[in-house]
Amino acid sequence: MAGKITLTMIKPDAVAAGHSGKIIDMIIGAGFKIQAMKLTRLSNEKAKEFYAVHSERPFFGDLVKFMTEGPIIAAVLEKENAVEDFRKLIGATNPANAAEGTIRKNFAADIERNAVHGSDSDENAALEASFHFAGVERF
Ligand code: CMP
Repeated sequence: MAGKITLTMIKPDAVAAGHSGKIIDMIIGAGFKIQAMKLTRLSNEKAKEFYAVHSERPFFGDLVKFMTEGPIIAAVLEKENAVEDFRKLIGATNPANAAEGTIRKNFAADIERNAVHGSDSDENAALEASFHFAGVERF
């Protein structure tokens, strides 16, 4: 059965460009409930830990640099079928391939600076939610 939560990060590019409000509006408009949300900044160590699965990829160094360049907004989102529905809402990793009306189509610059993160499985959603939030910070 599909899980009920996903973890998103509004990435440094979108926060710096002032797109956070419009992105959060799209998320709520699509039927997601916010369980937890905070403005925070990843340290080098935390970014490497979050993206450890990509540590052997050629873009890993650039990705860590990008994700630590400024604040992000992390949030736990709740909805039936949350992971899949949220990935539809954000669109393809590369905004050039993202469908019209998706968050990345509207706000992302390129495959790296792609405005938002969304968990790719229920298992990772649970791990990523715990990475950013303590139990008492979720409602
Ligand atoms: P996301 O899917 O949130 O998590 C992994 C991130 O790595 C991805 O978003 C992009 O920001 C980045 N990424 C993925 N593929 C590439 C790539 N080919 N080149 C540069 N960055 C990438």
